[in-house]
Amino acid sequence: MRFQPIATALAVGASAHLAQAAGLHDAAVAKGLLYFGSATDNPELSNTAYTTQLKNTADFGQITPGNSQKWDATEPSQNQFSFTKGDVVADLAAANGQKLRCHNLVWHQQLPNWVTSGSWTNETLTTVLKNHITNVVQHYKGKCYAWDVVNEALADDGSYRDSIWYKTIGEAYIPIAFEAAAAADPAAKLYYNDYSIEWAGAKSKAAQKIVQLIKSAGAKIDGVGLQGHFIVDQTPPRKDLASNLQSFVDLDVDVAYTELDVRMKTPATPANLQKQSTSFANVVGACLDTKRCVGITIWDWTDKYSWVPNTFSGYGAACPWDETFQKKPAYQGMMAVLGAASASASVSVAFTSASASASVAFTSASATPTSAISTPTPSSSAADFLPQPSAAAHIKAYFQCGGLNYKGSTSCASGLVCKKWNPYYHQCIQA
Ligand SMILES: *[C@@H]1O[C@H](CO)[C@@H](O)[C@H](O)[C@H]1NC(C)=O
Repeated sequence: MRFQPIATALAVGASAHLAQAAGLHDAAVAKGLLYFGSATDNPELSNTAYTTQLKNTADFGQITPGNSQKWDATEPSQNQFSFTKGDVVADLAAANGQKLRCHNLVWHQQLPNWVTSGSWTNETLTTVLKNHITNVVQHYKGKCYAWDVVNEALADDGSYRDSIWYKTIGEAYIPIAFEAAAAADPAAKLYYNDYSIEWAGAKSKAAQKIVQLIKSAGAKIDGVGLQGHFIVDQTPPRKDLASNLQSFVDLDVDVAYTELDVRMKTPATPANLQKQSTSFANVVGACLDTKRCVGITIWDWTDKYSWVPNTFSGYGAACPWDETFQKKPAYQGMMAVLGAASASASVSVAFTSASASASVAFTSASATPTSAISTPTPSSSAADFLPQPSAAAHIKAYFQCGGLNYKGSTSCASGLVCKKWNPYYHQCIQA
């Protein structure tokens, strides 16, 4: 069992017929977690119905900028730093009293051309890496609860991804990055973040080795972020998720689910929405079962701004709120596992009261999550989850439209062009 704050425990005991928590964050904190949060970013922030719910701190005590702290946004030209868009999200977190998870410093995607097409030596690229980290982390010093320092260093088989970082610097780039981040903001929690490490297997083991590598180099790592881009019917059971979390905690680090969503074939069916609810509840439950699991971040809260339909053709409905901002069974499922629904039937009132109703027509891009493909559990067939090429799909602004191993549509919506940033990442941007 987790530590329960005394005030909450008393409140529960004193009036068990009342809802103990008005939302996901409140309920998570009552169970001893630090936060429940959501990704967001600049495009959707112009939708006031959206921002009304985003700043509902009963549900969200934490936010993550999906794109605007990434390298292409923060250092588009060498040593020319741009923090305008990242600051929008950092300022919003401060204004709302929400924790900020900062994301991310070193990744193989969304790198500007000057990085990917430069001819670097180990020494010159290490200088570039340290300079980027030092400047970005210093700019946000004191504002980030946590930084995803290195993102997705691993290929799906658990070997190192053949990124420019690995090719030029070797695995040493990882501890070097953590050292530079720690020097620039000693108080920020420093995370390694990846996908398909949510269940036991070669990739999870390899991520554990990364923790050991960083520690053995004498650098600081505080946590491992498990992205959690799951698929209905392919989300592992709660006990398997929890035992995998524990294998990281055993290395003396915190853990968090950092990009949680659960996609399904669209259109969504009532049966799949129910299964999705179970999946979300199992993930939240696994975090509750793990003493050093600090929190859960969903990869945006509404299907309206989910990355999923643009990345996995035929899939969607991956968030706990639908496109019209109505709560789905996944919301109730998480509230139930967080103990906010068990005291009384009357608690169900709490599920609908805080919902922001919205019918504002708005088209924009959502935060691009960091992973393109989440490997399923072994029981499923590949055809069920791999993104399928779809010539008809017109990709929205800021979504991926090409790059190494990308299998989705390459056709951008009207007014947009597919810009090749680097061999790994092409993005739809204004023509
Ligand atoms: C690059 O330099 C670092 C020291 O800064 C060293 O640890 C690493 O092994 C070198 N990598 C390669 C590929 O030589």
